[in-house]
Amino acid sequence: MTVSKESQARLGEVAARVAGHVEQAMRLDIAEALQNCDPLLAEVLEYAIFGGGKRIRPLLTVLSSTICGRRDDQLYLLAAALEYLHVATLIHDDVIDHARTRRGRESVRNKYGMAVAILAGDWLHARSMHLIGQLTGPDGLSVFCRATGAMVDGEYLQIRHAGNLALTEEKYFAIIERKTASLIASTCMLGAMFAGGTSAQQQALGRYGQKVGVAFQVVDDLLDYLGNQKETGKKVGNDFLEGKITLPLIAALEKANEEEHKELHSLLTGDRSDVQSCERLRVLLDRLGGFRFARDRAESLVQEAVASLEMFITGDEQESYQLLVAIAGYILARKQ
Ligand code: IPE
Ligand code: IPE
Ligand code: MG
Ligand code: MG
Repeated sequence: MTVSKESQARLGEVAARVAGHVEQAMRLDIAEALQNCDPLLAEVLEYAIFGGGKRIRPLLTVLSSTICGRRDDQLYLLAAALEYLHVATLIHDDVIDHARTRRGRESVRNKYGMAVAILAGDWLHARSMHLIGQLTGPDGLSVFCRATGAMVDGEYLQIRHAGNLALTEEKYFAIIERKTASLIASTCMLGAMFAGGTSAQQQALGRYGQKVGVAFQVVDDLLDYLGNQKETGKKVGNDFLEGKITLPLIAALEKANEEEHKELHSLLTGDRSDVQSCERLRVLLDRLGGFRFARDRAESLVQEAVASLEMFITGDEQESYQLLVAIAGYILARKQ
């Protein structure tokens, strides 16, 4: 899927403008919510929320609302609530994955320790739920709760299958649909609900978010092998270190002959902290077509995502439609 240079440039402009509004909404909200709170909590939240990030989820919320016809200042607060939820999951994810680096600097767990990280994630989770309840009512809260439940379930599934070289492609997708796509789908769905979109519009945007979300994680898993830490802001090779079995490896195992299978097995069960092992694995995955396979799957997923938006092609909100299409293209091309 290719997106025109003009659409990419327009996406860049809108993304920066929306990120500015969302940051302002978060600043005001945090200042209000933190009155009389412990100063360490304020410091950690400042560190976690305002230290970078692409702000893709809040952008999806804003566009999902505008494509259904609503744009006002409260929308940025809803978008902020979804960024809170995302940041909460990142803080907790770095505890789970023992990750030292996030958004180009020390992860919260590394800088402040485990207890502080867990509690800051809890605070953000609670604040997100509070705002979503206020802005979208009980139906919105149900969407939120389903997504967070699915996320936890996905992480459990992932833990269950860590180091399992027999992990199937089907199970891999079951994990990432839950741990990543459910939140991204809910960011779209909640935007549509906030705007009072029809049930068909909500479903279409939810489906778009689900497909884009799965593609997002497939690309994230590719970047974990092929990315550059300066761009991703995270340690490259952490999935291998943690024994996470992701799509390039599943596809390569499928193609490997007996000897290659043995080598893959010994790399995964050997000393995974050895950088040369990771490099060797990268060479094998490339040779066996694992990266190509994952990329092709991400490509078909974004095509399916765009196809889900068919009902908006002739709608009144052409700009929002074009931007959602451009986001799908960006997700494939991203290096960050
Ligand atoms: C990282 O998400 C977590 C995944 C689901 C892969 P992002 O890549 O959107 O993280 P930030 O917000 O830009 O840091
Ligand atoms: C996404 O998976 C986890 C979340 C649901 C937050 P990863 O563990 O691959 O995300 P990164 O690579 O640490 O951002
Ligand atoms: Mg992680
Ligand atoms: Mg990752």
